Amino acid sequence: MKIAIIGTGYVGLVTGACFAELKHRVVCVDNDASKVRALKMFKVPFYEPGLEEMVRRHARNGRLSFSTQISSAVKNSDVIFIAVGTPPKENGEADLTGIESVVRAIATSMHSYRLIVEKSTVPVDTGRRVQHTIETNKAKNVPFDVASNPEFLREGQAIHDFLHPDRIVIGVESARAEKILRQLYADIPAPLIVTDIKSAELIKHASNSFLALKISYINAVARVCEAAGADVERVAEGMGLDGRIGRTFLDAGIGFGGFCLPKDLDAFVGISQKLGYDFGLLKEAKKINESQKELFVRKIENRLWNIKNKTIAVCGLSFKPNTDDMRFAPSVDIIALLQQLGARIRACDPQATKKAKGLLKDVVFCRDVYEAARGSDCLIIVTEWNEFKEMDLKRIKKLLKQPIIIDGRNIFDPALLEAMGFSYVCIGRTSK
Ligand code: UDX
Repeated sequence: MKIAIIGTGYVGLVTGACFAELKHRVVCVDNDASKVRALKMFKVPFYEPGLEEMVRRHARNGRLSFSTQISSAVKNSDVIFIAVGTPPKENGEADLTGIESVVRAIATSMHSYRLIVEKSTVPVDTGRRVQHTIETNKAKNVPFDVASNPEFLREGQAIHDFLHPDRIVIGVESARAEKILRQLYADIPAPLIVTDIKSAELIKHASNSFLALKISYINAVARVCEAAGADVERVAEGMGLDGRIGRTFLDAGIGFGGFCLPKDLDAFVGISQKLGYDFGLLKEAKKINESQKELFVRKIENRLWNIKNKTIAVCGLSFKPNTDDMRFAPSVDIIALLQQLGARIRACDPQATKKAKGLLKDVVFCRDVYEAARGSDCLIIVTEWNEFKEMDLKRIKKLLKQPIIIDGRNIFDPALLEAMGFSYVCIGRTSK
């Protein structure tokens, strides 16, 4: 099939490359000419394992192309996916101006039947607004359908998640649209759930908010574990073996970040409010998440006594491993809090330092964990990259001024670290 993807951000580019992998013909459109120029030279503007190679392969075999022209892409495609950003406004609601201008451009370029699919995460009822906008702006009296096909991919494993999803959700209002979408995904062996458009839109918000809730729940349990002298890792293991609960998203730590979970949680609270329901449960999940970072800084302060003029080696800047994404990364708030208390920061990250340099002030960026540790008063784990899990602890101990590790991701075994002579502080686990 011939597909146009509007928006070459995270979701758009991964979707485009993966549809090419499924042997469809794809054009990815973006109004940022420099981005399109770079993509034509196979340069992906963010780090995602395997993506650049996949883009190069399909651009070379002709299945994937890039353009700044919505109109020709719409003319030459059967299906148009909208994957432009929906950044949060000050009040937490999604900003849909990008979607609206793309929808208008699509409407004026349609010359025969087109299926327009929402891929971006949008509030419930956006589908109806898209339908209305196309109806009132279309240049020719041609039939069209609107559908919702939310994306659930995780950064760092986006290609795998796209090609091997737990489920494919399509929200449609016509048999024609359903048939096209079934055909598009025919080679992906995953359960496909067909709903109305509004339900599909809500599945995305309800799923992401539930994941956020699950993380805040285990972080709250971690606090009780600490107070009671229990071990949250064992508690999560014991809970997770119950098939109804599941072990994933029960890792206690410094809270969730990234561009999706915090934003989608806020948006879902806002959507519910507008619809007349006060979603207090989600508000509490957000509160727990915010305080998790402050709690971590308090742990550091407790251990160091005074933070003023102490040097802290920060391991990890990206919001999670295997990505260079710094959006809503807990590291940003944690570093700001530590700096307010007078700390000097030496930071390292396997991928994110370039992006972090534009965001963080007065930070010494180090090549690796060993350079960061040299002469520091303590080392803190903010992102659980494998590089940190595998660090040479004997060497680290020699490099640090004091052998203190404060771990916001529970990557080490407390007994082992203590046996090595470290003072080790973590989340929801009390040292023996
Ligand atoms: C998320 C959803 O998982 C995905 O389905 C959706 O399409 C986009 O949003 P992503 O933002 O890539 O994906 O990251 P995810 O792996 O969900 O992690 C989000 C945050 O939660 C990270 O900061 C991570 O460190 C944190 N997290 C995750 C925890 O603190 N504990 C956990 O157990 C899991």
